[in-house]
Amino acid sequence: MEQSFNKIKNISGELSLPGDKSISHRALLIASLAAGKSSIRNLGDGEDVKSTIRCLKSLGVETETINDLLIVNGRGYKGYSPPNQSLYCGNSGTTARLLTGILSAQDFESVIEGDKSLSTRPMNRVIEPLNLMGSKIKSNNGILPLNIFPSKEIKPISFKLPVASAQVKSAILLAGLHMEDETSVIESKLTRNHTENLLDMKVRYEGDKIISCSSRKNYPQLKEYFIPGDISSAIFFIVLTLLTRNSELHIKNVSLNPTRIECLNLLRRMGGDIQIEIRGESNKEVYGELLVKSSFLSNCSINSEVIPLIIDEIPILAIAALFAVGNFEIGGASELRVKESDRIKSLVTNLRSIGLNIEEYSNGFKISGEIKKTKGNFNSFGDHRIAMAFAVLSSILEDGGKVKGFESVEISNPGFLDQLKSVTY
Ligand code: S3P
Repeated sequence: MEQSFNKIKNISGELSLPGDKSISHRALLIASLAAGKSSIRNLGDGEDVKSTIRCLKSLGVETETINDLLIVNGRGYKGYSPPNQSLYCGNSGTTARLLTGILSAQDFESVIEGDKSLSTRPMNRVIEPLNLMGSKIKSNNGILPLNIFPSKEIKPISFKLPVASAQVKSAILLAGLHMEDETSVIESKLTRNHTENLLDMKVRYEGDKIISCSSRKNYPQLKEYFIPGDISSAIFFIVLTLLTRNSELHIKNVSLNPTRIECLNLLRRMGGDIQIEIRGESNKEVYGELLVKSSFLSNCSINSEVIPLIIDEIPILAIAALFAVGNFEIGGASELRVKESDRIKSLVTNLRSIGLNIEEYSNGFKISGEIKKTKGNFNSFGDHRIAMAFAVLSSILEDGGKVKGFESVEISNPGFLDQLKSVTY
């Protein structure tokens, strides 16, 4: 589906967004392990979250909706039913990788599959540490489908992450819930910490290392979850407001987890007028309000240490950078190549199509020159975050623009167009 956008004159009003995708996956998985009914409020409504619900259903986990709550009937310790079909994770890397961690500690065989994009994404990063724990996982040369065999004896490990990945960290920590002794994951760069928060895990800092630990002591209890709004969906509206004249936007109940707001810190360093107000906490997840106003931005350098903390927001940050003074350069971000699309290639292709000079690196890119077209004709490359980033750019260009394959927004934010309409004048 091709979606057209006209130049927007003004943004104003208020948005409250569906729950954060990363926290939603974890709340579902964790609630499914506890014995009995947990409730989840403001669960994310994208296809990825639905993929987690679908896989859990195949494992015998029933869910029901009561008013604004999703009730998850958790199966308790090793209580999943052996699935009689493969577990289809759709486009969702988080579903595939976190479930692999949980299933590697179960007593039955399971198969994990995904769509065309997910079936190209690297899985050895989870298979290797889980096999070190004694799990038996077979892949198709490092990609899906995965066959996970019953684990006879798994043992705890202490594992230093070779790639900064919250999905890999979480897969190991979730497997670790099934053993009395402690499993630890050592990171040299901070990544999102929702698994640790929701399971109240021990995390300690030794020099520049971050060490997170899990064991049977952290095995999930019944809980009520409130999922704060998705900051990685909010960021598209934040950038659009900053770049549109005479605009002001309130965003309520949004996740302000410190491992997720580096994108806001960066935009503020660029001169963005973003006020942040913490309003509460649920299961250690902080949330609150944002007030965003039109701003003049200047590009600044980005330290490679923070790349894992802004990895999902780089496409829209690159759009903000087009309208900021100075050139924009990003390095140390080779992980962008193995997301829902090769995001370096997707960005470079779309940005070159409007006349910008782009230098492409293996781990990043540099943007210089001027936008030479008044109207854009972009491709989402089947990637939700690329689709929304170029919807924002199309809404800023003098004669608007089109985004091919716009249906990919369903993956994280099916309400994107309605939300945009509700704050646009
Ligand atoms: C996620 C972790 C990140 C992120 C993805 C969601 C998570 O992936 O890009 O969108 O929920 O743990 P990596 O772990 O591959 O960095």
